[in-house]
Amino acid sequence: MEFSIKSVGPDKARCDCIVVGVFESRKLSAPAQMVDKASGGYLSGILRRGDMEGRSGAALLVHGTPGIAAGRVLLVGLGKETEFGEKAYRDAVAASVRALKDTGSKNVVITLSELPVAKRNTDWQARQGALVVHETLYRSDQLKSKKDKAKPPLSAIAFTVAGKDAKSAAAALDQGEAIARGMDLTRELGNLPANICTPTYLAQQAQKLARECKLKCEVLDRARMEKLGMGSLLSVARGSHQPPRFIVLQYHGGKAKAKPVVLVGKGITFDTGGISLKPGAEMDEMKYDMSGAASVLGAFRTLAAMKLPLNVVGLIPTTENMPGGAATRPGDIVTSMSGQTIEILNTDAEGRLILCDALTYAERFDPDCVVDVATLTGACVIALGAVASGLMANHDGLAEELLEAGQASGDRAWQLPLWDDYQEMLKSNFADIPNISGSRAAGTITGACFLARFTKKYRWAHLDIAGTAWRSGKEKGSTGRPVPLLTHFLLKRAGKL
Ligand code: BES
Ligand code: MN
Ligand code: ZN
Repeated sequence: MEFSIKSVGPDKARCDCIVVGVFESRKLSAPAQMVDKASGGYLSGILRRGDMEGRSGAALLVHGTPGIAAGRVLLVGLGKETEFGEKAYRDAVAASVRALKDTGSKNVVITLSELPVAKRNTDWQARQGALVVHETLYRSDQLKSKKDKAKPPLSAIAFTVAGKDAKSAAAALDQGEAIARGMDLTRELGNLPANICTPTYLAQQAQKLARECKLKCEVLDRARMEKLGMGSLLSVARGSHQPPRFIVLQYHGGKAKAKPVVLVGKGITFDTGGISLKPGAEMDEMKYDMSGAASVLGAFRTLAAMKLPLNVVGLIPTTENMPGGAATRPGDIVTSMSGQTIEILNTDAEGRLILCDALTYAERFDPDCVVDVATLTGACVIALGAVASGLMANHDGLAEELLEAGQASGDRAWQLPLWDDYQEMLKSNFADIPNISGSRAAGTITGACFLARFTKKYRWAHLDIAGTAWRSGKEKGSTGRPVPLLTHFLLKRAGKL
């Protein structure tokens, strides 16, 4: 898709189709009024005949509008004018694209970007516009022997904005495209099955990304991990025939001495549960258990494309979690890189076991802050569903930044408490810490409490993306989240938002 920004009257925009909004009930938006005026009331005539109410999601393609430069007009419902906000804007852009992809329109101009959205500026509309269009047209056929039928003709989309906003909106549009490309990588990796996307494959993809984007990439093998004392990570890898990898990515866009942001992603390429084997139903979805890792790679792709003036480190511990003769047993005690001993009471709580060593490794970068991203707990899916990622942090300012980034990007998170009271749920009779609590209560929080024992030396936040990284059911597939949240967080830190 070719995106652009235009500052032109909607009646004069030369294109195959111009998209204008209609509020409930039948109230033309300002750009729609201009088209209506130029056409001698053609649109209001249509509304009067009752063909369009302006309900959100509705779309009506109109041919033969006189007096304007566009070949067609697409009327899109915006819902109630008083309720027109972030969601209504996104929904309207998505509805426009869905309606247009089955028409012959190649070049379209969308005027929805001119409608004021509370608390958001034109840049936001351009950035979100690119993201929503990309999302709506996305499809995955990487592993189908026959690719989906021909692409829709729709190939160029321009958003209209006032002349004074054009320059910064164009930059925001570029940001949106860069974020979308990062999400593509995340989705592609997430959707790949575990027989292809192994720890070795993930490491190769990281190296490829590093070559393309001029990042530094180092891949540690089992021997290096042993030397570093990553006993917890290695205990998860014991049951697998696939060798584990520890990926270290570095992006240097900031001042030499600026402390880096460290992003850590859970890279379990398949989670059977290990000896604490999972039930069979929907176990295929555990190929997505490397979505945290994939989102770190996606965020790096975006970061490099936007050339942000920041230093960022990406850490990806990656392994399978398999049962096997050499696999870790429930009750086994291992020593983490931090020196703390862990009693592994359930081998299915493996995410925290690989993350804790990565979090200790993070210390060597003297980080400004560390954010880990993980499909950590089924309990998070129960608590927040597919709408919000779970956020827990040991620093309120950092939590606030991430919550804001989530809101601004439409990729939201919701904070859960990480009070010391919950730490009491993690007690082992035999080791420093058990890998699970004795009760299922507050499972998302106790998972984070485990990680918190390894993050005392820096500001840290944890994103539990078990509910948001992929969709189940008919629409099964990776979502590319939380790349929008992570990249908005970085954009804001770089002063580009
Ligand atoms: N990868 C899973 C979490 C998960 C489960 C994500 C279902 C999405 C859907 C994780 O490794 C896991 O198995 N967690 C356990 C933790 C429990 C043993 C404390 C869980 O949530 O059941
Ligand atoms: Mn598990
Ligand atoms: Zn897992």
